[in-house]
Amino acid sequence: MRVLVTGAGGQIGQALVPALLQRGDEVLATDIRSLTYPTATLQLDILDEKHFRAVLREWKPAEVYHLAAFLSARSEYEPQRGWEVNFMATWQVFEACRAEAVQRVFWPSSIAVFGPHTPREATPQYCPTDPIGLYGIAKLAGERLAEYFFRRYALDIRSLRFPGVVGPAHLPQGGTTDFAVHMFYAALRERRYKCYLLPDTRLPMIYIDDAVRAILKLMEAHPEQLTVRGAYNIQGMSFSPRELELEIQKAIPDFKCEYEPDFRQALAESWPISVDDTLARRDWGWHPTYDLPALCEAMLKAIPTYESS
Ligand SMILES: NC(=O)c1ccc[n+]([C@@H]2O[C@H](COP(=O)([O-])OP(=O)(O)OC[C@H]3O[C@@H](n4cnc5c(N)ncnc54)[C@H](O)[C@@H]3O)[C@@H](O)[C@H]2O)c1
Repeated sequence: MRVLVTGAGGQIGQALVPALLQRGDEVLATDIRSLTYPTATLQLDILDEKHFRAVLREWKPAEVYHLAAFLSARSEYEPQRGWEVNFMATWQVFEACRAEAVQRVFWPSSIAVFGPHTPREATPQYCPTDPIGLYGIAKLAGERLAEYFFRRYALDIRSLRFPGVVGPAHLPQGGTTDFAVHMFYAALRERRYKCYLLPDTRLPMIYIDDAVRAILKLMEAHPEQLTVRGAYNIQGMSFSPRELELEIQKAIPDFKCEYEPDFRQALAESWPISVDDTLARRDWGWHPTYDLPALCEAMLKAIPTYESS
């Protein structure tokens, strides 16, 4: 199958593109940055609507994976640009996919759609969503738009509310859950880490392999199985910075973490501790395979191999 990925150079794209190639797809990987992948690549600003449409017309993908985004912390630094990339570009992508008869679209949402009035434990699929951050506001609007395009135009858009994604290949920048990757790199390199969240701030997380597996599984599901056309709740595990520090210390006993919260603390405290992903499990068979010990083992094993390659 021919597919197109936007934001393909980011944390999720770097894992998704190889998985799509492995599945046998013909992949066009695009990003505003230049990319090197063993497949077709293109430098494309997703806000350039004309260029995106021309590329769709030429490449004729059956599926589009729209990952280009400004994450939560970066969106607070540049709110207007965050809105343009996270919402306006998403609108243009949906509109272009409809016009060019793309069969299926994947677009990820986030737990950032939740807010201070959301129940924080086992957060239900449907409950108050009152995000305080610009990123969450754009994701919530995107979820409503995805459902609107499905109901009004039958565009088959599928989405997941990702929690913090943790993977070894990429030092993420601009998110609120980045500490969960940074702590591993710091533990291996310096044995020290200064965390920008308080030690007991528990958040839902997912290991990158599970995140990619979830995307592929959701995209392969029969449309009639899907009852959520906004974005499915999904998670792998929950942990706090302190719990992660303790788990890393089992392998690196002299690792130490300091805690100095910044503005990301308020965002993290407005998000769930854990989410209820019953509908994802029921509708398309979601189940995570990584818990915190398995995630730690995988990260500590993989990071040195990436660093030496
Ligand atoms: N990583 C997470 O923890 C997480 C959690 C929830 C949701 N998500 C969502 O998953 C998707 C992918 O996230 P990620 O972690 O890979 O993000 P990332 O920040 O690592 O990658 C985003 C990519 O988008 C590209 N980009 C930014 N502006 C662009 C533009 N104007 N045109 C084209 N490309 C542009 C960037 O160059 C980058 O490569 C996003 O929609 C994000 O909101 C991620």
